[in-house]
Amino acid sequence: MTYLETTAEFYSEVAQTPEVGLCCVQSSPLQLPGLKIPQQMQEMNYGCGTTVHQAELINEPTVLYVGVGGGLEALQFAYFSRRPGRIIAVDPVKAMREAATRNLESAAQDNPWFDPSFIDIRDGDAFNLPVPDASVDVVAQNCLFNIFEPEDLTKALQEAYRVLKIGGRLIMSDPIATRPIPDHLRQDERLRAMCLSGALTYNEYIQHLVHVGFGQVEIRARRPYRLLDCQSYQLDEPLLLESLDSVAFKVPIPEDGACIFTGKTAIYSGSQEVFDDNAGHVLQKGLPASVCDKTAANLGTSKDILITDSTWHYTGGGCC
Ligand SMILES: C[S@@+](CC[C@H](N)C(=O)[O-])C[C@H]1O[C@@H](n2cnc3c(N)ncnc32)[C@H](O)[C@@H]1O
Repeated sequence: MTYLETTAEFYSEVAQTPEVGLCCVQSSPLQLPGLKIPQQMQEMNYGCGTTVHQAELINEPTVLYVGVGGGLEALQFAYFSRRPGRIIAVDPVKAMREAATRNLESAAQDNPWFDPSFIDIRDGDAFNLPVPDASVDVVAQNCLFNIFEPEDLTKALQEAYRVLKIGGRLIMSDPIATRPIPDHLRQDERLRAMCLSGALTYNEYIQHLVHVGFGQVEIRARRPYRLLDCQSYQLDEPLLLESLDSVAFKVPIPEDGACIFTGKTAIYSGSQEVFDDNAGHVLQKGLPASVCDKTAANLGTSKDILITDSTWHYTGGGCC
């Protein structure tokens, strides 16, 4: 069996017998006015963060959701795009598609605004998405791409890039590792399927996004996810995994490199009222302006500009 087959088999098992807390973090699923999440759908929350960010979902976007799981996030996306077929949810695991279908039918009983026709569940996988080029506004995946080996991750990201419209966004939530995960864990297919041993470091993860052409990446959240202890995982030191929520935009990569926003700001404190670097960045004295990491590094060379730390929470605005 390949690791992808092991993964499919594992998710077939947990579709039939839900494993509460398999991938989840301590936070409860996003609550929205008038949205009721069925119990069995909540028990199948196999995501490590969230991909449903309100600001991303204006104008009823078409969403392609990769790896439907129990259907929780597909339902949350449908909350914002209430039209037949507006959410396309793909999963190669038959038992998972069946579980999601059941859960969504149950959601329709409790949510008068929701009709299961809003979500079109299709057989397909991350490497061969069943939609044409440049046809969707949003691609989302939660706690799936971290399972992929690096070459397969590149293929999945290229496929997401292919189906997105220009300016469209790839919204992801995945575990990342605070240091490289040793080979004996990376090669454990079951741990990989459980989202515990395939994670890349933050820099590797972002590099993969830029490598396939995403010109702007914004970090929405970064939090502790799991601690792999020495005894259970044969490690010299415990290894902290974090979960990273990000949004990557299908826009051209600027000549001087991609813009990665991690919540840094630049604050000018010199003798003028305004600082202008003549490269598009104008800072009002004393006022923080959000900047991408590249601009932060450039502006940070000036003694009159303070660069604040990454908050790992950026939702737009600033001077880049
Ligand atoms: C960790 S679960 C996450 C489920 C869901 N995103 C959530 O947040 O609850 C991974 C999901 O990806 C599906 N999956 C496994 N291999 C896949 C592949 N190659 N392409 C797309 N989905 C896949 C599994 O069946 C499962 O539904």
